[in-house]
Amino acid sequence: MEHAGDKKGFVRRKFAAISPRYDLLNSMLSFHCDRYWRWVTSRELRDFPEGTVLDCCAGTLPLSLELARQADDRLVVAVDFCEEMLRQGWHTLATNYRRRQIKPVCGDGEEIPLRSASVWGVTVAFGVRNLARVEQGLAEMLRVLRPGGKLLILEFSRPHTPVIKDVYNFYLNRILPRIAGWISGDPEAYEYLASSIAGFYEPEELLAMLRDAGFVQCRAQPLTFGVVTLYVGVKP
Ligand SMILES: C[S@@+](CC[C@H](N)C(=O)[O-])C[C@H]1O[C@@H](n2cnc3c(N)ncnc32)[C@H](O)[C@@H]1O
Repeated sequence: MEHAGDKKGFVRRKFAAISPRYDLLNSMLSFHCDRYWRWVTSRELRDFPEGTVLDCCAGTLPLSLELARQADDRLVVAVDFCEEMLRQGWHTLATNYRRRQIKPVCGDGEEIPLRSASVWGVTVAFGVRNLARVEQGLAEMLRVLRPGGKLLILEFSRPHTPVIKDVYNFYLNRILPRIAGWISGDPEAYEYLASSIAGFYEPEELLAMLRDAGFVQCRAQPLTFGVVTLYVGVKP
């Protein structure tokens, strides 16, 4: 997958294929930790309970829902380039009264369809790893944030603690693609998950990219033995 365009097409197709099973697999394969991770992420925006936030790479809207749930007067613009994922999430929320706080928009996280300095928060859960051009995505996130607004990136990382690291690698490479492939009918999508986690930046590298993009007060907080990391950056 040499070119950005190739990666985008591949990622969009894979998420479209697994969209009906995404939520189920997500909770099952993370042993329900995903809810906690999204709760922690949303809590970081407690200083901005009103106004608009952007949930970038929103998928089936689980983080958008948590962001809405934690602040009654918040509007969440949920951007994703895979229409099937957004439709699946919108359908699941059909009877949820929080749906009125969420506005799904089909668009590219590398060319965010929002005005500059228009949101107080940008969240990206498990999306940055999938971007074809991470630097371009970060530049766009900085652009749409208001000065003083916060970027929150929740992303898989690799635990380094002995034993935990080995168990995790065995689970990620051997068990997860099999179960997920069997349930979703698309083993390639979950082989991609394992390889994209293995090939992703170390937390210090991603932090450096945040600083290079222009964010300040950058920090990384490992969660659940470092299986995921929450990155925070502020627009000066
Ligand atoms: C692993 S899912 C995460 C969904 C959701 N944020 C969550 O917490 O479960 C990654 C999402 O990123 C989206 N995505 C990847 N690249 C994108 C891009 N360039 N622009 C918009 N969405 C993108 C995919 O379509 C997919 O829905």
